[in-house]
Amino acid sequence: GNRTFTMIKPDAVENGHIGAILDKISAAGFKIVAMKFTHLSKRDAEAFYAVHNERPFFGELVSFMTRGPIVAAVLEKDNAVEDFRALIGATNPADAAEGTIRKLYATSLGENAVHGSDSDENAVIESAFHFSGREIF
Ligand code: GTP
Ligand code: MG
Repeated sequence: GNRTFTMIKPDAVENGHIGAILDKISAAGFKIVAMKFTHLSKRDAEAFYAVHNERPFFGELVSFMTRGPIVAAVLEKDNAVEDFRALIGATNPADAAEGTIRKLYATSLGENAVHGSDSDENAVIESAFHFSGREIF
């Protein structure tokens, strides 16, 4: 697939990293085809992360993701899902490779600066969760 979905999470927004993260995304060859600054409700976050609702960290994840505004975006590039996950690095910034977005800007395993879709199918579902067809260019 040639599209993926991302969020710049509340920690990175609070820490002033929106511009630097968007620069890294552009420099890596991704084109932004949709973008908004928004704030997830508790219901939004629970629905977006429903796949994790049995996990012990689910409550923490929902409270973190609703703590402040996020940037949501759809990105276009060949091999987008895999290449974007390489650009952001491992879930835990302590394990993330040098130069990755999480290594540079994440705070902790829970507060890890960015989201990236994990499959083409989820990229479509997650993009549709945040954007109507008329908001993707
Ligand atoms: P996303 O791109 O955000 O989906 O991250 P991921 O695909 O690298 O990880 P995964 O989908 O397994 O987990 C989703 C999110 O849950 C992570 O990005 C973390 O923000 C959070 N998370 C995962 N494990 C833990 C944990 O042990 N504790 C806490 N507090 N949060 C966690
Ligand atoms: Mg995930």
